[in-house]
Amino acid sequence: MLVIGAGAAGLSAATRLVEAGLTVTVLEARDRVGGRTWTREIDGAMLEIGGQWVSPDQEALLETLDRLGLETFARYREGESIYVDREGQRHRYTGEIFPAGAETEAEIERLIGILDELAPEVGATAPWAHPRAAEFDAISWHHWLRTQSDDESACEIVSIYVAEAMLTKPAHSFSLLQALLMAASAGGFANLVDEDFILDRRVVGGMQQVSLRLAEQLGDAVVLNAPVRRLEHAAEGVVAHADGDVVVRAKRAVVAVPPNLYARIDFQPPLPRLHQQMHQHVSLGLVIKVHAVYDSPFWREDGLSGTVFAPHSPVHEVYDNTNHEDDKGTLVAFVSDLQADASFKLGPDAQRAAILEQLAACFGPRALEPEVFYLSDWGAEEWTRGAYAASFDIGGLSRYGAMQREPLGPLHWACSDIAAEGYQHVDGAIRRGWAAADEIIHALGD
Ligand code: FDA
Repeated sequence: MLVIGAGAAGLSAATRLVEAGLTVTVLEARDRVGGRTWTREIDGAMLEIGGQWVSPDQEALLETLDRLGLETFARYREGESIYVDREGQRHRYTGEIFPAGAETEAEIERLIGILDELAPEVGATAPWAHPRAAEFDAISWHHWLRTQSDDESACEIVSIYVAEAMLTKPAHSFSLLQALLMAASAGGFANLVDEDFILDRRVVGGMQQVSLRLAEQLGDAVVLNAPVRRLEHAAEGVVAHADGDVVVRAKRAVVAVPPNLYARIDFQPPLPRLHQQMHQHVSLGLVIKVHAVYDSPFWREDGLSGTVFAPHSPVHEVYDNTNHEDDKGTLVAFVSDLQADASFKLGPDAQRAAILEQLAACFGPRALEPEVFYLSDWGAEEWTRGAYAASFDIGGLSRYGAMQREPLGPLHWACSDIAAEGYQHVDGAIRRGWAAADEIIHALGD
């Protein structure tokens, strides 16, 4: 069997195929495994450049961590959080809902209640099959919220949980249906709001350990620096042509790359009309993940958790991202979509200064002088091209969603971007990897 892509999805698929007694080759474009999980040492600091958090409902990821002997630790969350309002004023608070004023707080709760009813109704498995799917897919997340409430602040705040924080796209660019899929895949909208749930734990040694350990078990089956350029496919099997004159023949292939990259592969014969169309309606969002490492987690001395929610500012979220049993203190901050575009336009020095000034406004002048400062640049990564993951444009999910996981002859599809539970997360990547492997195992058994 052939697996294209050595991220969590591809390596989980390969592992399950090998466990079923099949011979597998994994072709990976990069010089490393892990894809969108990447634990790097930068200037002596261990940083999670890509996916890192684990939530309690992510059963496939938790099972994998367990099987690989990997441990988790809780995100630091003691003390007060900071909410930065529209005027730039800082407010310290505890609990889930920001001190946005009693009326707005009530309105936020009401909107979350509506979404918590809709999300399970739509579900993560087949949102396109909901009787109102076309209607929910025809209105943007931004505009739907304004049909539900006149409270602009409440709309902006609720919007962020899906737009900046998850799909990392402007709220006007994706639909209500897409937002409901995001919420349903995380077990409900309330879970997206609850950072103690969605950003609960991290992996000791880093999330990339999942892929590194799976790859280690697969041994020589994983071939790095081998981007698949051409994939011939027919009922009898596939022939993949990768760089370095690598040619792999197999009965079936798991294409475990995000859908925005399918077009990088020359499928022969070309994929059917609807697939070619579908792939043009799905794209990755963009978020900059910023790490600032200090000689200690000094904000804790001031009774602060390190959590900042600043819905109207370029850096919209900040968390304490200190490593397990580390004396150093690390903050992680996020700059999403339109703000990310504007941030990159500043150029490196001004970009760094603008981000650190925002951290200093919350945590004091010590925040201006990190020992290590690093900005992720996933948009510039040839084999990803954005962060965190892919979503459809308005109308795309109801129009094409049902096709995205359907095998096409010997081709099977796996990645977090087409997952149901765990959509856009490492958990979803593993689930899709296992599902694609199971499709093959069942097909061979027939
Ligand atoms: P992934 O993209 O990881 O793997 C695909 C692989 O295919 C890559 O290795 C790529 O190089 C390779 N490839 C592409 N084209 C190829 C070709 N033609 N030939 C051969 N190989 C090819 N998730 C989470 O659970 N918790 C979190 O906290 C976060 N946070 C987060 C932050 C940031 C900055 C990012 C970028 C992402 C996250 N995520 C996350 C998302 C999570 O990291 C992501 O959903 C999964 O790692 C995706 O795994 P996949 O295997 O599906 O794709």
